[in-house]
Amino acid sequence: MATTEIKNICCIGAGYVGGPTMAVIADRCPSIQVNVVDLNESRINAWNHPDLNQLPIYEPGLDAVVARARGRNLHYSTKIELAIENADMVFISVNTPTKIRGVGAGKASDLRWVEACARQVAKSSKGHTIVVEKSTLPVRTAEVIKAILSSAESAPKGTNNPKSFEVLSNPEFLAEGTAINDLENPDRVLIGGESKKAVEALANIYEQWVPKEKILLTNLWSSELSKLTANAFLAQRISSINSISALCEVTGADVGEVSLAIGRDSRIGSKFLKSGPGFGGSCFKKDILNLAYLCRHFGLPEVAEYWENVVKLNSWQQERIARLVIHKLFGTVAGKKIALLGFAFKANTNDTRESPAIKIAKDLIEEGAELAIYDPKVNSEQIKISLSIDEYKLDDNQASRNESFSDIGKWYVASNIGQSLQGADAALIITEWEEFSRLKWEDLAPLMRQPAWVFDTRAIVDVSAIKKAGIKVWRLGDGAE
Ligand code: UDX
Ligand code: ADP
Repeated sequence: MATTEIKNICCIGAGYVGGPTMAVIADRCPSIQVNVVDLNESRINAWNHPDLNQLPIYEPGLDAVVARARGRNLHYSTKIELAIENADMVFISVNTPTKIRGVGAGKASDLRWVEACARQVAKSSKGHTIVVEKSTLPVRTAEVIKAILSSAESAPKGTNNPKSFEVLSNPEFLAEGTAINDLENPDRVLIGGESKKAVEALANIYEQWVPKEKILLTNLWSSELSKLTANAFLAQRISSINSISALCEVTGADVGEVSLAIGRDSRIGSKFLKSGPGFGGSCFKKDILNLAYLCRHFGLPEVAEYWENVVKLNSWQQERIARLVIHKLFGTVAGKKIALLGFAFKANTNDTRESPAIKIAKDLIEEGAELAIYDPKVNSEQIKISLSIDEYKLDDNQASRNESFSDIGKWYVASNIGQSLQGADAALIITEWEEFSRLKWEDLAPLMRQPAWVFDTRAIVDVSAIKKAGIKVWRLGDGAE
């Protein structure tokens, strides 16, 4: 049986997953034409922007990959039907957020975009098409996709060009900020499917750059469940170490030292043991809630509760940071200026989805704080969408701090760190951007109002240098303070 050779790929969804993944496939497989399509015209225009700094996603190394392949065999467009029609293989890489209303609201994944894609593929495809689930999906979603596709399979009987489909699951494990390296040197590639021929066709693509032994083949349901489980385990490690960070603070232990000590046990391993303000990003919370929803659906409430606690602990970590800042600033932040350093959910990305900065900023604004937000990659529009609160417009003579003692909280974007700290009572580091670890506090201290604080939720600052500069400092998980 000859393997199906893939010559033309269509990827529906030009987001954080589809965009970088297809760029790397196109880069590594010059003989395959890769068409990335999206309903969002401005996103597509940004992918096609001649200035590579204007790509819609900030991801280290992405610009070079796009530069090599774009226009050669990598194309971004809104012509969804045409791209599907020409494709031997269609990747579905659209958003699957948690449902906000109806059955399963707040827990189950909203599959309306995936379903719309399946219907679009059923309608526009020609001949045989392999459909690949790339988005993270609830277990057994492939069944939904198959059901929609099979209605199109039966429709055109007797025509010259009958349609047929195969469905594969190929979850993406890339992490934002390291996406290009994760794609180019993956720990593993997972392909789940029933048809050996279709599985091999997809495996052949990855084999262009991934060693064969790293390509794992499973059944469809194991593949779908593995993705949810991997994210649940990773998030669980973060909640575990964050729970210990609180204990360190009251016992005099240092969570960094505890992480180091336990991580040396090869059974535990050293990765994903960094305590912080709580995990963010589009996947962890959504996938755990989805996993818990599945467990309840299948009559396993104890298992559901076990995983839900990982999310609960995460919210608690975010809440306790806001509470602590208020407590240290004499029990009130009303009318006080706080420089919020970092808004992205982690360093090296402009993504703010589920960023701990959102909950922490909202809690402080609610208490009347004036937040001067600085993030090297997140713009004010994105912050406004995340907070659902309009930006406060400073007038020219108010560029430093608000002396009105108004207790109505507000936020605005500071154009640089100096501006954010001008007259501030505190700096609150949320994202571990490298530049925040190199700040010269002896130069910055005179800008702040005394007594000034630095709250470091990522343990990236040099505590003794800050103290020397005359600023009080609190570092997450550090009981020696
Ligand atoms: C995650 C998974 O890592 C990836 O495999 C999956 O495909 C998508 O979800 P991502 O959300 O992009 O990737 O980033 P990740 O590096 O996992 O970080 C998630 C959150 O956990 C961030 O807020 C990060 O700051 C936090 N984190 C991570 C910690 O607080 N401590 C750690 O030790 C690691
Ligand atoms: P992810 O992080 O999973 O990549 P994003 O939200 O960044 O998620 O990207 C998903 C993309 O999918 C968005 O750009 C959205 O416009 C696109 N999309 C959603 N539904 C469809 C559809 N039916 N057809 C084409 N594009 C779609």
